[in-house]
Amino acid sequence: MEKRKIILDCDPGHDDAIAMMMAAAHPAIELLGITIVAGNQTLDKTLVNGLHVCQALGIQVPVYAGMPRPIMREQVVAESIHGETGLDGPVFGPLTRKPEKEHGVRFLIDTLLASEGDVTLVPVGPLTNIAVAMRMEPGIIPKIREIVLMGGAYGTGNVTPSAEFNIYADPEAARVVFTSGVPITMMGLDLTNQTACTMDVIERMERTGTRAGKLFGEIMRFTYRTQHEAYGLDGGPVHDATCIAYLIDPDSIRTKDMYVEIDVNEGPCYGRTVCDELGVLKKKANAKVGTGIDCGRFWDLVEECLKMYS
Ligand code: BDR
Ligand code: CA
Repeated sequence: MEKRKIILDCDPGHDDAIAMMMAAAHPAIELLGITIVAGNQTLDKTLVNGLHVCQALGIQVPVYAGMPRPIMREQVVAESIHGETGLDGPVFGPLTRKPEKEHGVRFLIDTLLASEGDVTLVPVGPLTNIAVAMRMEPGIIPKIREIVLMGGAYGTGNVTPSAEFNIYADPEAARVVFTSGVPITMMGLDLTNQTACTMDVIERMERTGTRAGKLFGEIMRFTYRTQHEAYGLDGGPVHDATCIAYLIDPDSIRTKDMYVEIDVNEGPCYGRTVCDELGVLKKKANAKVGTGIDCGRFWDLVEECLKMYS
């Protein structure tokens, strides 16, 4: 089986952690590195969280710290969803795992330049690292095979009525990425909210009996509570993991080609992914936008990945 080479760019984060577990375990994926960005919490916290998840599960992939702040806007974090640490819930042992010395943006640039155009970027946090890499070295742009990202919505947002968190946390970076010409697949809230992780699912994953299944339970039990408090949901969506599912089992996800523009104007739509769902602008589509997911297949895949840990 040809392995899909990816770099996971994330801001762990509960659902980021599940994406990490899946990407590191599944044989269809070759995880070249994990770059961390500020988002759900400040960079010092998201970096520690990423290292904790790697240490707890024996994930040997190199981890790089990236950008500590968005490009232009003031920083926002998602404390009400992810807690004070950014990954509240699990209790980890003392951290010995260290990040690489190299900056995450440097790693992105060097890896892409040295590649044969076969590396896919999977950003599941604000797009700061990816946009800065594109601006520092535009030569990487034709080298990126595809960007499969979690962010945005053609329907309602989750931070404002218009905007989803990852895009709202750095809209200017998102605009750089969406105008880059790189093929983009966007898993927005319209799709990711379909993956509500109910108590049944949590218990099913815990029954795998692996350390990954246990960590999944600790993570998703916390998310279950915060998503209920914030949105009244009966289960927390595992947003970021849908990007990994798409790479492993693309037929389980439906997408629609759309022209997507990021609103960077001040006002109620700041950070909105304006998606031309009906094609009224007659502009060439710049993204495949996720519209639906086969949840049965999705949870089977999550379970399969968790079972790959001891
Ligand atoms: C996205 O925002 C973050 O809170 C999650 O990790 C996910 O990437 C959902 O809006
Ligand atoms: Ca995330």
